[in-house]
Amino acid sequence: MIYNNTKTLVDELMKNKIPKSKTCLDLTFGNGNDSYKMLSINKDIKVYGFDIQKSCIDNSKKIDGLMAINDSHLNFDSYVYTNIDFAIFNLGYLPGGDKNITTEYDIVIKTLEKLLIVLNDEGQIVITFYPGHKPGLEESIKVIKFLQKLNQKKFNVVRYDFINQINNPPFVCLIERIR
Ligand SMILES: C[S@@+](CC[C@H](N)C(=O)[O-])C[C@H]1O[C@@H](n2cnc3c(N)ncnc32)[C@H](O)[C@@H]1O
Repeated sequence: MIYNNTKTLVDELMKNKIPKSKTCLDLTFGNGNDSYKMLSINKDIKVYGFDIQKSCIDNSKKIDGLMAINDSHLNFDSYVYTNIDFAIFNLGYLPGGDKNITTEYDIVIKTLEKLLIVLNDEGQIVITFYPGHKPGLEESIKVIKFLQKLNQKKFNVVRYDFINQINNPPFVCLIERIR
């Protein structure tokens, strides 16, 4: 595997965890690429995709295993009543879309607080950050501060950085509940 960007890295993290998963969340559905990827790895999972943009949900593929929901990720628990094995955030705005419709760190943190409670043992949350622009940088600083405070006896929190790339490149965090 060549790890040339966050996407190839996230794909590998999915390939590791999705075969052992049942309930998965795509908390920033957008064009649905992460949901479709998860279902291509394991067709027996249930994926709940959330996006505040109705057009994203309207354009989603109607495929087995996917429930695409036009609501904020903050409300995921109004739709998902079981514990979760895998959840993914791809922060920021939709490439090619309205840059003003973007994730917000306070909502992301509140969603994470709820998610951590319902994450199964060895369940994982993967977050891609885009600190290359000002709001994305602020968002990454605030969310990382939150993640740094998680109890190390309960969670492994790993950060993957492309440390030889210039201009605040995207990076990934993996949060895993310890059994
Ligand atoms: C970087 S894009 C995601 C791209 C997506 N992974 C894909 O494959 O196309 C971020 C998405 O998060 C959505 N978003 C922003 N705030 C949200 C929220 N509170 N709840 C759910 N989605 C949100 C945006 O509308 C946008 O589509």
